[in-house]
Amino acid sequence: MDLKDLYRDVILDHNKRPRNLGTLAPPAIGAKGHNPLCGDQLTVYVSLDHGQITDVKFEGSGCAISMASASLMTEAVKGLDTEAFARLHASIHDVLTRHDAEVPAALGKLAALGGVREYPSRVKCASLAWRTLEAAIAGAVSVTTE
Ligand code: FES
Repeated sequence: MDLKDLYRDVILDHNKRPRNLGTLAPPAIGAKGHNPLCGDQLTVYVSLDHGQITDVKFEGSGCAISMASASLMTEAVKGLDTEAFARLHASIHDVLTRHDAEVPAALGKLAALGGVREYPSRVKCASLAWRTLEAAIAGAVSVTTE
């Protein structure tokens, strides 16, 4: 399957049936992400146990790409420690923003996000959930895409 087909199929599927939609009660931590260009907002909740992500959920409203990216992210990061999350986030950032970046096979379904780089105005949509989870882990309560 090429990147365009993967992009279309995976983004459509995760937008239609978002995984891990909902909230987590304290002691889980949460952060709000906001895309000022469109006004879309989402909140990401994460439970951490000794630096390991044991659960993650999100809620909010946004475009298909932001919702699908959040859904894909929640599936991918459960069980990772925060360093592994940071490495995965860096890899996703590269795939989203560098036209010449190879899309590592290890990304699995997340490779679909590589299709977003064909649409530079949507990179912020795809980044929103990732930056919000990063903020939550860092102890910040909100993040705005720049
Ligand atoms: Fe608002 Fe994509 S258009 S996050």
